Amino acid sequence: MTDNVRFVIGAGLKMYLAQRETIRWAERVAHIAGQHPAVSAGFVDLFVLPSFPALAPVAEVLAGTGVRVGAQDLFWEDRGAFTGEVSGADLAELGCSLVEVGHAERRRVLGETEEIVAAKTLAAFRNDLTPILCVGETQQLAPAAAGEECVRQLASATLPSRQQGLLTTMLIAYEPQWAIGAVEPAHPEYIVAVVRHLNDFIDGDSALAGSTVLYGGSAGPGLLPQVDGVVGGLFLGRSCHEPTALESVLDEAWQLV
Ligand code: PGA
Repeated sequence: MTDNVRFVIGAGLKMYLAQRETIRWAERVAHIAGQHPAVSAGFVDLFVLPSFPALAPVAEVLAGTGVRVGAQDLFWEDRGAFTGEVSGADLAELGCSLVEVGHAERRRVLGETEEIVAAKTLAAFRNDLTPILCVGETQQLAPAAAGEECVRQLASATLPSRQQGLLTTMLIAYEPQWAIGAVEPAHPEYIVAVVRHLNDFIDGDSALAGSTVLYGGSAGPGLLPQVDGVVGGLFLGRSCHEPTALESVLDEAWQLV
């Protein structure tokens, strides 16, 4: 990342696209990023999170474009008898520089507890992967209560890393669970109010200095200008499946810098 970075924009593919579609998608993203001034001037730090099997080919397609590649999950141990799990050490070796931790779907569908999320956050730091820690309230609350809940989740997820002296700059994706997979994102005023709580917590915590809070949950073109100044970027889900929508978000970011 350069010092110019104004926005962090991420694209998480979940399990939506087939392998071949993912590679074609990455080729289009490489083309867009390669000619976009926001990316080439370093104002936008752009990352993509394909599924595990697509990580190596996508890293190859995006090599030299400045677009970073990360995984959607990792295991909390680095080596051992853990059938089917994926080590952060291997992700780093594959060329990942970041990894998503604690997405709402993993917490809800796969039963990831706060202890697991904290152990995975620690595993990310231990392997020099920047965690993209997902936090968010399950249902819409008063913004102050939602902010407190998100700060609580952030504090809980980072505790073991803090205790081991590994806590440092990271990405936090504020993703209200009720706005994921929805028709529209949370209201911009609500997003801004909640993210202010997270920013205040980060500002008061020297270990987290330089950390950025992104918004995710039905995010797409049109949102960034409405939350600029408080929110540090967007974490795109379905909207990025069409790379021209990602390009529109980059255009909006470029207008704001
Ligand atoms: P969505 O996904 O944009 O498709 O709602 C966002 C996310 O879960 O990160």
